[in-house]
Amino acid sequence: MKFFNREKEIREILSIIENEPNFIYFIYGPINSGKTALINEIINNRLDKDKYVIFYFDLREIFISRYDDFIRILFKTYTPKKSFFDWLKNLLKPLIKDSPDFIDIPSIASITSNVLTGIPIPKNLLNQLLKDKNSDDVFNYLTKIFLEVKKEGKQPIIILDELQKIGDLKINGFLIYELFNYFISLTKHKHLCHVFCLSSDSLFIEKVYNEAMLDGRAKYILVDDFDKKTALKFIDFLSEEILNKKLSNDEKELIYSYVGGKPIDIVYVIQELKNKELKEILDYLLKDAIQKLKYFLEDVKEENDDDFYKKVVDALKIFKENYEVEDTKIPKKIREFLIKKNILFLNPIDGILKPQSFLIWNAIKRIL
Ligand SMILES: Nc1ncnc2c1ncn2[C@@H]1O[C@H](COP(=O)(O)OP(=O)(O)OP(=O)(O)O)[C@@H](O)[C@H]1O
Ligand SMILES: [Mg+2]
Repeated sequence: MKFFNREKEIREILSIIENEPNFIYFIYGPINSGKTALINEIINNRLDKDKYVIFYFDLREIFISRYDDFIRILFKTYTPKKSFFDWLKNLLKPLIKDSPDFIDIPSIASITSNVLTGIPIPKNLLNQLLKDKNSDDVFNYLTKIFLEVKKEGKQPIIILDELQKIGDLKINGFLIYELFNYFISLTKHKHLCHVFCLSSDSLFIEKVYNEAMLDGRAKYILVDDFDKKTALKFIDFLSEEILNKKLSNDEKELIYSYVGGKPIDIVYVIQELKNKELKEILDYLLKDAIQKLKYFLEDVKEENDDDFYKKVVDALKIFKENYEVEDTKIPKKIREFLIKKNILFLNPIDGILKPQSFLIWNAIKRIL
């Protein structure tokens, strides 16, 4: 499907990329707001392929519970050509006494695509890294690769999607802190590589935002659901693209009143319009949201004491009159619970809480 708009966010990110790396950037926003779609649009269609090499890691689909899992995501192994390898081995023998196999031969110059989903590494070196479990070795190797890319006259960019997935991973201490330290050295200190981290987990972003070590070293870019004006244009864009017609203003307003500016929901509605009535589609979506909220509240009641349940209900009731409220209006424990359960989205930079979607908002208004 064709990508729509986001011109402001695209301009902002392109301008960051054109400057030298100075900060770690966190791209955050509600669930399904289009963070991944935006970054993919930029790396596939908006960046000069001759100028940039992008290392893109999507942690979403991957099960990560140990150090090894993370290392295997970072790297893609290749077996160096035997003769060349032997030649190099001999050449380097005097330099590497302990481990003659510990030789890296980055093949950056031979890489044709500008988007890589793994950092090239010789198999034996990867095995060594896995065995030693020393993250400094890993980072040293990465730095070498990025320097190599720079030597080729290109700017390296790291993108980590769903970074929160390694938030709890421990090696010696938490891996995420080592990673942040390394990213600070790549950006603020060495100005070597751009780093963009994406996450839809607003509790994770809040933690990051309040993390002292990142103070003055990280910046935040919000990719929110579309505002009303843009959402109506997106509906036009999609209906012409998918249905070959325009919808009436009433129809567009009706869609917006149900699903708001959530791209994925708007896409769904327009696609379904190929063979269903608008009212039927919207009623189905709302019924679904209501059912889910109902069962959620039932679980809260069953698994917690009455006081907690009452506080959750009271917190949600605040949204009956408002779509957005100040975060501290809801007690910390309750809001963190509702954020964790993906009922609410927290924007820690603006201190604002709102339902994760218009559909959830509509369900709150109907049930409570
Ligand atoms: N600007 C856009 N133009 C066209 N379609 C879009 C756009 N943004 C989002 N979409 C649609 O919405 C879907 C969900 O977007 P995406 O997966 O990028 O959201 P996300 O914010 O990364 O979600 P998550 O919170 O799960 O990480 C996309 O698959 C695409 O169909
Ligand atoms: Mg995503």
